[in-house]
Amino acid sequence: MEMNQPVGATPLDREGGLVGRPIDRVEGPLKVTGHAPYAYESRELGNPAYGFVVTASIARGRIRAIDAGAAEAMPGVVHVLTHRNAPPQGEKKEQVAPLLTGPEIRHVGQPVALVVAETFEQARAAAAAIRIAYDGEAPRAVLRDAIPDAQVPPQAASPPDSSRGDFDAGFAAAPVKLDVTYTTPVQSHAMMEPHATIAAWAGDRVTLITANQMPNRGQGSLASVLRLPKENVRLISRYIGGGFGAKLQPQADAILAALASRNLGGRPVKVALTRQQCFDATTRRSDTVQRIRLGAEPDGKLLAIAHESWSDTTTGDSFYETAANATRALYEAPHRRTAHRLAHLDLPVSSSMRAPGEAVGLLALECAMDELAAALNLDPVELRIRNEPAQDPEKQVPFSTRALVPCLREGARLFGWEKRQARPGSVRDGQWLVGMGMSAAARLNPLQPAKARVRLDPDGTLTARMAMTDIGTGTYTILSQIAAEMLGLPVAQVRMVLGDTADPPSSGSGGSFGAASSGSALYVACEELRRQILAKTDLEPANAVFAEGRVASGNRSQDLRALIGAGLEAEGEIKPGQNSKAFSQYSYGAHFAEVGVDVDTGEIRLRRMLGVFTGGRILNAKLARSQAIGGMTFGVGAALMEAVEVDPRFGHFVNHDLAEYHVPVHADLPAIDAVFLPERDERANPLKSKGLGELGICGAGAAVANAVTNATGVRVRDYPLTLDKLLPGLAEREAGQRRA
Ligand code: MOS
Repeated sequence: MEMNQPVGATPLDREGGLVGRPIDRVEGPLKVTGHAPYAYESRELGNPAYGFVVTASIARGRIRAIDAGAAEAMPGVVHVLTHRNAPPQGEKKEQVAPLLTGPEIRHVGQPVALVVAETFEQARAAAAAIRIAYDGEAPRAVLRDAIPDAQVPPQAASPPDSSRGDFDAGFAAAPVKLDVTYTTPVQSHAMMEPHATIAAWAGDRVTLITANQMPNRGQGSLASVLRLPKENVRLISRYIGGGFGAKLQPQADAILAALASRNLGGRPVKVALTRQQCFDATTRRSDTVQRIRLGAEPDGKLLAIAHESWSDTTTGDSFYETAANATRALYEAPHRRTAHRLAHLDLPVSSSMRAPGEAVGLLALECAMDELAAALNLDPVELRIRNEPAQDPEKQVPFSTRALVPCLREGARLFGWEKRQARPGSVRDGQWLVGMGMSAAARLNPLQPAKARVRLDPDGTLTARMAMTDIGTGTYTILSQIAAEMLGLPVAQVRMVLGDTADPPSSGSGGSFGAASSGSALYVACEELRRQILAKTDLEPANAVFAEGRVASGNRSQDLRALIGAGLEAEGEIKPGQNSKAFSQYSYGAHFAEVGVDVDTGEIRLRRMLGVFTGGRILNAKLARSQAIGGMTFGVGAALMEAVEVDPRFGHFVNHDLAEYHVPVHADLPAIDAVFLPERDERANPLKSKGLGELGICGAGAAVANAVTNATGVRVRDYPLTLDKLLPGLAEREAGQRRA
């Protein structure tokens, strides 16, 4: 199948089928018994040498001198790679750039050397003995200062600017106006498993066992940097401990391990980045400045929406945070404008982090909507319902499916939204001011090209192969469910071989496209197997049902194993088709949060939170809920604690580890739940599913922030909402109450 066209009733629609069931992760036993090694622990490539990365301590300038003499003489050291002896490399591709190319420094944490030794400790000790002298300059590290020089970024997947109607006139004429600016900080992915690679060469071919979300894309970009034909680069990423976008591209560990292994005649070299290097030497989510203007009628109907966003990346890169993209499709309004501008700073490269665009864009838009609701004296849920568009308001194409309003209504009902007091600061529980907030959620539903190969062996075992990854999301499990359901086999009889570019190319995991893309390719491959099997029978194919190891049609059935012969093989492929353009495709949801704010200290405590979502067919109820709750947790972090603090004097990240970069822990999330409303998106893909991985974070933080305002009457527009930002407003409020 080459198009994501409507497919009618499918085998997956069978009543009581396996797809959708909340089965446990199929690789769970391997993980808890130590049989699912991450890249750094793999023994596939033999006896490795250990690399340790040395990074720049200045943000801007040049290396004047680098002395590796002492390091080279230390015990166990087999190689030191710097810009003085690094081999020539090829072109930067998809944000993967050659390293150690010269003395110029563009950010703190830029890799400047790799020390390779017999043991990790020897490499680390020798790395500390490398002496580097710099000629440094004062860095540019503050987005607000760089806004006057910000530029229109080059067109990426979507145009940086958009408009419809006449925003300026529409806004000027609107009876009710809101003009607010929100800021979000630099964030870091902070996934559990750090970046790590083992690389080894055989002749002019290199194999990398590496933590990578998209091995096929990584294969292409590494081939470019290493100046090899793509076929000579093999990536293996079987088990991955989270990514959140950090591992969309190969990072310094992969490039440096590959370069060093080549210099050592092919001996495997393994490199893991330290936690601090994960923050400093790889990619980040850009900070943003977002101005939102909303013009409305007194009844809440929006007349004009503008969302302008500024973000930054390192000099020479063009990635920008698409913060205003979701605003293009979320609410009706005749006059609209979005714009993105990009500044260049002496900070690490910006790139995708979970729900790039929507995650931070909705932190601004959905709080602005809350502010507008307050200005109109209208319930925030009702304000959104009144601005529900009949079709995509910018692209002017139909939605494939859109269930935002049902999510809002059901969420409000389940959460007890009717108990919310519209007047801020009117609910008190002892020391705590208590408030409720809500937000809409929306995330683009993309499909990526993917292939899969399946083989049915005579014993009835089905093996599927594709260079797809499971980054902890449950890909192994949902793919097993799809294949098992298609062929009527138990899950235990299905084997998924993932993560190897030697197998058919797949989408990899990212952008919420992984399950739909790889699952659809697998679905198509299994359909072909079904055809082959049915061709060996005289059963009526139209009504054939594959179940319990048999294929049945009408009142006759046959044992599958009797039809397999010496084995059957098939391939499947999916590509985005017309429906990707002819329809506006998003997953939707609504978040509801209740917080308590300590009246004296400003400490914010989440009390409970609920997300109600639609994402087409749910492939595994337990894993989907996990994804949603994980995303919501991410959103709570964005609202209340997550921020990389940049020291403007030196351009370095102050809190670059998990001791000081705070993410929510269990104690921060006392009661959190996610619910999916039933849906099928016939136009999305053959599975009729939509992406989920990033939906949960979208809008989640805004619901928390809106609850804080409802609790206190204080609006903070600078994320995260730490107590220092809340205290002045709280003090003012208390003083006002004493006066009254
Ligand atoms: Mo995605 S940015 O890989 O979470």
